[in-house]
Amino acid sequence: GAQAPLLVAIDGPAGSGKSSVSRAAAERLGFGILDTGAAYRALAWAALETGTDLDDPAAVEGLMNLWAYDITLQGEQRVTVGLVGASPIDVTPAIREHSVSGQVSRVSKHPAVRERLNAMFLDIVAGSGLPGVVIEGRDITTVVAPDAPVRILMTASPEIRATRRAGELPGMTHAQVLADIEARDAKDALVVDFLNPAPGVTLVDTSDLDFEQSVQAVIDIVRAVQGAA
Ligand code: DC
Repeated sequence: GAQAPLLVAIDGPAGSGKSSVSRAAAERLGFGILDTGAAYRALAWAALETGTDLDDPAAVEGLMNLWAYDITLQGEQRVTVGLVGASPIDVTPAIREHSVSGQVSRVSKHPAVRERLNAMFLDIVAGSGLPGVVIEGRDITTVVAPDAPVRILMTASPEIRATRRAGELPGMTHAQVLADIEARDAKDALVVDFLNPAPGVTLVDTSDLDFEQSVQAVIDIVRAVQGAA
């Protein structure tokens, strides 16, 4: 049978460059990319869509019995949600909207929900048929794939992250973006610690790196592991 894909686990906060850097590195390595935040977002979207109480773990778990989640790991990443009795819906743009972003932590805070999504992530990776998969999120290096041959925590100072995100959020001042980032970090960090590297995890601080240098840093770490294998 096919060999299991090489796992590259990458965690980090919003604005660290994690998502865009992970995507570019995966593409150049010929690997797939699994954005786990997209699954949390899609679940929140589905809960809002169906009138499920996001704060009720049993209700959210019940919804997970009725939903079908699909994400493409290569090329343009499309996220699709199928709910029982309805044809699958492409939610790729919808899950990035503020109406969803602001609600995700209400579903991601439930341990039972996280366990089920984690199992789903490993199923998706195992069934990918790809030589490698980059999995990015908040607890990939620590909980989802603690045995991954490559584990990276990507960080950047809050000021740098705010500067990068400010370009994406016209109409907000740097101070507002910074406050927004720090509030979201604080909320997310209540669930998992993604601001400090666990033992054996390689810290990649992108504060003084541009995009290209950040991608190269990830590729170099992966190549070193591949070379050692
Ligand atoms: O990375 P992102 O902004 O798309 O993540 C969306 C939300 O999901 C964010 O509130 C953190 C949460 N999340 C999580 O709890 N665990 C993950 N592995 C990935 C994301």
